Amino acid sequence: METSRSTQISAEAPVMEPQRQFYYMDLAKKLVEERERAYGRKLTAHVETFGCQMNARDSEKLRGILDTIGYVQVDTEEADFVIYNTCTVRENANNKVYGRLGTLGSYKKKHPEMMIALCGCMMQEEHVVERLKKDYRFVNLVFGTHNIFKFAELIVCALTQKKMVVDIWDGTTEIVEDLPVERKYSFKSGVNIMFGCNNFCSYCIVPYVRGRERSRDPKDIIREIEQLVADGVVEVMLLGQNVNSYGKNLEQPVTFAELLREIEKIEGLERIRFMTSHPKDLSDELIEVMAQSKKICKHMHLPLQSGSSRILKKMNRHYDKEQYLALVEKLRAAIPDIAITTDIIVGFPGETKEDFLETLDVVQKVRYDSAFTFIYSKRSGTPAAEMEDQVPEAEVKENFDMLLKEVQHIAAEKAKELEGATLPVLVEQVNEHDETLLTGRLSNNSVVHFSCAALDPDKQADTSLIGKIVDVKLVECKGFYYLGELCS
Ligand code: SAH
Ligand code: SF4
Ligand code: F3S
Repeated sequence: METSRSTQISAEAPVMEPQRQFYYMDLAKKLVEERERAYGRKLTAHVETFGCQMNARDSEKLRGILDTIGYVQVDTEEADFVIYNTCTVRENANNKVYGRLGTLGSYKKKHPEMMIALCGCMMQEEHVVERLKKDYRFVNLVFGTHNIFKFAELIVCALTQKKMVVDIWDGTTEIVEDLPVERKYSFKSGVNIMFGCNNFCSYCIVPYVRGRERSRDPKDIIREIEQLVADGVVEVMLLGQNVNSYGKNLEQPVTFAELLREIEKIEGLERIRFMTSHPKDLSDELIEVMAQSKKICKHMHLPLQSGSSRILKKMNRHYDKEQYLALVEKLRAAIPDIAITTDIIVGFPGETKEDFLETLDVVQKVRYDSAFTFIYSKRSGTPAAEMEDQVPEAEVKENFDMLLKEVQHIAAEKAKELEGATLPVLVEQVNEHDETLLTGRLSNNSVVHFSCAALDPDKQADTSLIGKIVDVKLVECKGFYYLGELCS
């Protein structure tokens, strides 16, 4: 793959990171100011995120840099600079980007000065970059997941040259700390604890586009969370493709449970979440830490993928149906009120009706609080894409619909169990459809919309509660969310 590293604009640029990027942020700022003077107004930027929470966090890093160099963030793609942070986990994620890019291209025809950048997981695929170079010449900048820290340097490059700038790295061992970040929420934040994945589940493209597993130094993680807390954050979501294998490749190995113990000590931090947990690496030590913790949320996202041991083997998941069920039992024994959620794939190559019924059986036994269900999507380059007996779409659809119905039915029944209870809610925002209500989340991650009127009938949604944890009575369960009333 092309690795044009001809981005060194000046010999003065420091070699060390992050100093080098701060140098380029200054340079980019000057270039942006020049354009501002020419246009007689501020420049606008829009970052569109596709995919998972890792990408959402990466987008906050992109926004941090855009802010620093003087772009005003806007919520529309009619902006001076539009960045798509892409996902390629399933074919439809991929198609969405091409579709949107077509529309953006037409807009750019009328606004030729506009800049378009593409980054993220899709860009790590050679055929994507080839297609962009051939059919989407209007794109100014293409970079990948490994060099996202170089965004400022790449912007300088794109602002100073006419041709498409392409910089994709095959991998990296580098983790650059201390670059600016612009958070979406003032009171909660994602925190990367590791990057990449070593598991190579046979259907999954992530290890190819995110590279090998790299854990951040625990000291850097703690320092980041302390700074976030000082800045008003009360809830962190620790992010990794398999948080249960955190720390194994550090010079001084640390377990995920040990990291959690340290994070728990941070004063002012109230809630700790994490995702994702791979069942094969979920330790007894972690369960113990969770059971004892006052801050770790009562929620475990534990992807099942399939309930058939035969399919799990072909998926390279390293657990079988019985081991998975035993793990759930152990979790529930130690933490009785824990919410368990999952991801399930329907239609993996070779999946028979019997295999599917095994999945349905696990769903009925575990009774998930919620589940993301996906139709298997063939990703070229993965071992599953080469397997024979890919299952016809029509057959998959029937099973998929049956699974979805069961998952939703169980989730609604589970949610109903909490009706009438009074529980702590982290208030996130004013309700999007009804301004008299506030919206927040329970420890188990369920959404609650509640009014403050029970205490004072004239009371409108009290926005001063946003970012605070308050007691809410769950008056009515509406399937997958609750309507409630403020108590405290
Ligand atoms: N690291 C996480 C998940 C990453 S991707 C984990 O191991 O659980 C998120 C989810 O997308 C996966 O859990 C899986 O259910 C789904 N997924 C991944 N590849 C897929 C594919 N090729 N087709 C359909 N779903 C897929
Ligand atoms: Fe993909 Fe498996 Fe890694 Fe998750 S653990 S990112 S499903 S390869
Ligand atoms: Fe998608 Fe990349 Fe996440 S492929 S699911 S954005 S790691």
